[in-house]
Amino acid sequence: MARLPILEDLGDVSGKRVLVRTDFNVPLSGPDDARVISDDFRIRAALPTITWLLQRGADVVCASHLGRPKGIAENKYSMMPVRERLQELVPGVELLENLRFNAGEEKNDPDFVSSLVRGIDAYVDDAFGAAHRAHASIVGPPRTLPSAAGRLLQREVEVIDGLRRAPKHPFVAVLGGAKVGDKLGVIETLLSLVDELVIGGAMCFTFLAALGHPVGDSMCELDQITTCRRLLDGDKRIHLPEDITGLDVNGDYATYGQRLPTGAKGFDIGPGSAAAFSDVIMEARTVFWNGPMGMFEDLRFAAGTRTIAQAMAETKAFTVVGGGDSAAALAQFGFQDDVDHVSTGGGASLELLELGDLPGLAALRGAPNVR
Ligand code: 3PG
Repeated sequence: MARLPILEDLGDVSGKRVLVRTDFNVPLSGPDDARVISDDFRIRAALPTITWLLQRGADVVCASHLGRPKGIAENKYSMMPVRERLQELVPGVELLENLRFNAGEEKNDPDFVSSLVRGIDAYVDDAFGAAHRAHASIVGPPRTLPSAAGRLLQREVEVIDGLRRAPKHPFVAVLGGAKVGDKLGVIETLLSLVDELVIGGAMCFTFLAALGHPVGDSMCELDQITTCRRLLDGDKRIHLPEDITGLDVNGDYATYGQRLPTGAKGFDIGPGSAAAFSDVIMEARTVFWNGPMGMFEDLRFAAGTRTIAQAMAETKAFTVVGGGDSAAALAQFGFQDDVDHVSTGGGASLELLELGDLPGLAALRGAPNVR
């Protein structure tokens, strides 16, 4: 496999116009025509690349998607708030309008690619969070332009490659979030890499059901029960919650063991499970965490996720947090600076872990300056 080109592979960028694909898909709040950024982590994460290019005399044009507009311009997905923040951080850097306002972006339309590369001398992909999408701005420019991975993309790939190739053992993966079905591929891969797998979040109910436990009215994917049973019967240790907190049939807060009565709904792992999972994290030498342990946006059900976030911060293990909700939880509890790597990509980090490659990376490896 050809190597991934990095910024140095672009040669002299002085006076060149460089298109930088970033993932500025940031959380926004407020009314549609006056949206404010609630977390600028993804913007700050692109600064090392942008600054590297500016310091070498390049003219930088950034481009990103924001949300999922379906090929039409919508106020609530305007890049304006991001552009303003970018101007504060790195004055003079251009930012194109939301790439997904053009239907050609998601369709990987050659005409849209042509319009993006017109007047551009080189391309940098620093949009790790979108590198699993074969969209025009990701796979198109490297076909014709000298191209490179930005510093963020480079680091993300190094970290996830390291987890796949040479993790220090014991290697523990902690998975949460809603759907087992969505994560089946990555669970199978993780089971081949890790020593122990910890399962929390709503997906634990499908595993508990696979053990024959009643789960009340909790979220449970009936079509995945047989698969969960097969995974539980494998040779790797899978930790499931021993206790659950949630709401009883009257809507009152309640704590249960592994069996939930009819009408009860589980929304978080219980305190005993949180402590047991923390112990596993503390004993590990490598930990990958993706997906909250419960509905942490509701303070009644935040304790499990908070305990895991704290254990991630305190363990001596090399710690990697897959983006999305677990990164948001880490930030909510103030531990984002206490782990080794917080990925900017949710889906992308899982897909890279599972498959070992992404369309955006393959495109860069095929660029004219590395071929
Ligand atoms: C993300 O937030 O995971 C990335 O920006 C990708 O967004 P998408 O899932 O809408 O392609």
